[in-house]
Amino acid sequence: MEIDSLSHSFDVNSPQYWSERYRTGNTQWDLGTETPVFTALVEQIDFPKPSTNSRLRVLVPGCGYGHDALMMARRGYEVTAVDFAPEPLEYLRQTSHIAGVEIETVCSDIFMLPERYAETFDIVLEYTCFCAIAPSRRAEYANVLAQVLKPNGLLAGLFFPLDELQRHEPPFTVSENEVREHFEQAGFVLISSKVPLESHPARAGRERLMIFRKPL
Ligand SMILES: C[S@@+](CC[C@H](N)C(=O)[O-])C[C@H]1O[C@@H](n2cnc3c(N)ncnc32)[C@H](O)[C@@H]1O
Repeated sequence: MEIDSLSHSFDVNSPQYWSERYRTGNTQWDLGTETPVFTALVEQIDFPKPSTNSRLRVLVPGCGYGHDALMMARRGYEVTAVDFAPEPLEYLRQTSHIAGVEIETVCSDIFMLPERYAETFDIVLEYTCFCAIAPSRRAEYANVLAQVLKPNGLLAGLFFPLDELQRHEPPFTVSENEVREHFEQAGFVLISSKVPLESHPARAGRERLMIFRKPL
């Protein structure tokens, strides 16, 4: 089959495409554990910490099996994990139950979130959702995250894969400049951007941690 015809044989905008990948175990993106870069990030002294007075609401869009959602819930954050494929959410319901933590699991298209969650979250953790959606929808996605964050909210994004190779299926290639452009156009201010030291070995040097703030 020609690559070009292959690229039209599926639709990454549809939950069916992703459900099928979960059902057939075609989930190479799944690290099987929380993202080490995020674990290191939330342990930094200046990263916002929940307290009894303010639990801090976190959104994990395109959460998949939700390892990062679970890691944040264990630390006392109030987590909403969103995916439009029901299979990984069922897994996350079970793992969070076993861990004894509460996570709001929402089976929804992320592009629908502003209707229900306008200015709701203090923090968004983005990992491999940006590279999973159709590249033509990236500006729209940046606007969605801007709408669901509270003013002064933080977007912590680990953007992968920073590869030269242009793919015809997810993960679609990302670049620092493109990410920056989309999120700045959506109103965010870039606070920091670096190649992290803690990447999973298979992704070392191929991802960039970018922290944006939504202005007050
Ligand atoms: C590459 S996987 C990454 C999963 C997880 N973030 C991880 O790192 O393991 C992308 C996930 O985003 C979900 N997804 C893609 N487009 C979506 C959309 N428009 N709305 C909701 N979920 C979406 C897919 O179902 C899939 O679980």
